[in-house]
Amino acid sequence: MDLELKGKVAIVTGASQGIGKAAALRLAAEGARVVIAARGRELLDRVAQEIRAAGGSVAAVPADVSRAEDCARLVAEAVKAFGRLDILVNNAGTSATGAFESVTDELWQADFELKLFAAIRLARLALPHMNRQGGGRIVNITNIGAKQPRAKSMPTTVTRAAGLAFTKALSKEFAPQQILVNSICIGSVRAGQHEAKAAKAGVALEQYYANLAKDIPLGRVGRAEEVANAIAFLASGAASFITGSSINLDGGASAVL
Ligand SMILES: NC(=O)c1ccc[n+]([C@@H]2O[C@H](COP(=O)([O-])OP(=O)(O)OC[C@H]3O[C@@H](n4cnc5c(N)ncnc54)[C@H](OP(=O)(O)O)[C@@H]3O)[C@@H](O)[C@H]2O)c1
Repeated sequence: MDLELKGKVAIVTGASQGIGKAAALRLAAEGARVVIAARGRELLDRVAQEIRAAGGSVAAVPADVSRAEDCARLVAEAVKAFGRLDILVNNAGTSATGAFESVTDELWQADFELKLFAAIRLARLALPHMNRQGGGRIVNITNIGAKQPRAKSMPTTVTRAAGLAFTKALSKEFAPQQILVNSICIGSVRAGQHEAKAAKAGVALEQYYANLAKDIPLGRVGRAEEVANAIAFLASGAASFITGSSINLDGGASAVL
């Protein structure tokens, strides 16, 4: 299937590893020019090298997307590098969950800045470019906890639920301009955040993933490339009648539609 991504320009946040890296590689392999962002320069540059070595076009922009000024610089550098902006993948994030009484105002604020305000600010900055070009795509990465909050799952589940509402409201408002906005609700996917959790718990990584898989009907944890496939699809011409949707990408784990 031709995804019609050749020549499109895509920003992918949190693209130095895990799901964001896989998405950037996939979009570049489909012919999109990608602008990758994360705070740490070293890993980001390595991803850029990998994309270039495979014949892709890429610009690496070190940025902390929880800061408004970095969001502005990221979009400005993307447009400066490639002259347009067609796709925004709001992916940067990390796990933040705890017992309610242990979550301070600072932790709440930081989670909202990283997972909600980054998406809001980047969308606000990207929309005028997409509008001028006659359309665009925004893909917001969230968590199945947004639809199905557990005990001790805050602040993430609250931030992510807000992300789903943001996705839906934005999709309604910008559908007339052919700007399609969707989200992907992720379950458990192999990535850096799990490696850190396994190390912290002193559990061997494969054992940690095997424990997670017990609650997943498909019997395993997902791979970043499987999320990247869904991101590329939603960003593509093949998804031209889908907006305001959220896809559960969780191996069947969640109980909600
Ligand atoms: N993996 C899962 O099971 C899972 C489940 C549910 C939801 N998710 C969501 O999926 C997204 C990707 O997760 P992942 O598992 O691929 O995570 P990961 O492997 O830990 O990668 C996170 C990426 O985000 C970047 N990042 C973190 N904070 C940032 C900031 N303030 N500004 C810019 N970049 C930032 C990191 O780079 P730097 O640290 O260098 O900035 C890194 O590139 C996240 O939003 C996560 O919450 C993942």
